Amino acid sequence: MMKVVMVVVVAMAILSSLIGAAMAAPFGVSTLSFDEGFSPLFGDGNLVRSPDDRSVRLLLDRYSGSGFISSDLYWHGFFSAAIQLPSNYTAGIVVAFYASNGDVFEKTHDELDFEFLGNVKGKPWRMQTNVYGNGSTSRGREERYLLPFDPTKETHRYSILWTDDTIIFFIDETPIREVPRRKGGDYPLKPMSLYATIWDASNWATSGGKYKVDYRYSPFISRFSDLVLLGCRSDPIQVPENEQCDDAMNEIISSGIDTITPGKRRAMLEFRQRYMTYSVCYDTMRYPTGLPDCDIVPSEKMRFRDNGHLRLASARRRYRRRSRNPISEDSKKQLVM
Ligand SMILES: *[C@@H]1O[C@H](CO)[C@@H](O)[C@H](O)[C@H]1NC(C)=O
Ligand SMILES: *[C@@H]1O[C@H](CO)[C@@H](O)[C@H](O)[C@H]1NC(C)=O
Repeated sequence: MMKVVMVVVVAMAILSSLIGAAMAAPFGVSTLSFDEGFSPLFGDGNLVRSPDDRSVRLLLDRYSGSGFISSDLYWHGFFSAAIQLPSNYTAGIVVAFYASNGDVFEKTHDELDFEFLGNVKGKPWRMQTNVYGNGSTSRGREERYLLPFDPTKETHRYSILWTDDTIIFFIDETPIREVPRRKGGDYPLKPMSLYATIWDASNWATSGGKYKVDYRYSPFISRFSDLVLLGCRSDPIQVPENEQCDDAMNEIISSGIDTITPGKRRAMLEFRQRYMTYSVCYDTMRYPTGLPDCDIVPSEKMRFRDNGHLRLASARRRYRRRSRNPISEDSKKQLVM
C-alpha cells in the first residue's frame, strides 16, 4: 500500500515538474494564467477556459465567434501565445492574434497582426502579418506565408516583439519578419492591447470570398496557451516615462528576444525564402517608390513578381520538392491570392 502511494507521489512530482517546465515559454520568459492578464472580449459562451486557467479555447459556431483581450494596455512589449488552429474544413475562418489600440484611437490606431486564414478541405492554413501605425489603414503592409508544419496538429508559438526601434514577428523561436522604425514609416507609437479572436470572414478570407464557412463542420476550435504579456503596463493616452518601463524592457533585453543573432538572421532568411508567398516590399505595382521600412533582399526580390506575389514557377518547384503530388490548378490560385 505504502509503495503504491510512493509511486503515485513520485509520478505526481515528475508530472508537476513537467507541467512547470511547460509554463516557462521559450526565451525563458514567464507565462500568465488567463485571469492574470486577460478578459473575455465577445462570444463569452464560446470562450472556454481550462480548469487550471492556463489555456483557452476560442470557438466559432453558427451563432458567434469569440475573442479575448489583455486587461491592460502596454507601451512596448513581447506578446506571445502557443496556438493550435481548427482542422478540417476551415474556409472563411480567420483566427487573429494581434496588438491594437483601435478601441481607443478610432482614426489614428496602431496595430500589429498575425492573421491565420482558413482554407478548403485538404489545403493548408495560410498566415499573414501586417503592421499599421497612426491610422495608416490605407497603407496595408501585408506579408503572406505558408507554414512549415501543420498548425492544426499541435500548438506552435507565435510572438510579436515591439520596442522603441523595431518590431519582430516570430514563429516558435525563429524570427520571420522585422520592421525597423524608420523616418517616414508608419510605426506604432501609442500603447496597445493584445487580442485573440476567431471569426467568420466568409466574404474575403478564402479565395477572395469564394469559399464560405461551412457550419456543418462547426464548432471550429482554436486553442491558446502559454500566454505571455511582457511589457510596460500603461495608460492608453499618457505614454509612460522610459524609467517606468525599465523592468519590463530589461527582462526583454536580458532574455535576448530583441537580439537577432547571425544564426537567427539566417533562419529568418531561410523561412522567408521557403514559405513567403507575398510581400508588400516587392509589390511595386502598389507602392512604386517602395516603403521606408522595407529592406530589399536581392535574392528574395527576384523570386517575386512586381505585384508582390511569388513567381509561379518557383512556387511550383518548391511544392514538387516537398510533395509527390504536382500542384493543382486550385492551389496555384491559392498561392497567388
Ligand atoms: C475532422 O475530420 C475527421 C474525418 O473526416 C474526423 O474524424 C475528425 O473528428 C474531425 N476533426 C474535428 C476536429 O472536427
Ligand atoms: C497621427 O495622425 C494624426 C492625424 O492624422 C496627426 O495629427 C498626427 O500628427 C500624427 N502623429 C504622428 C506621430 O505622426
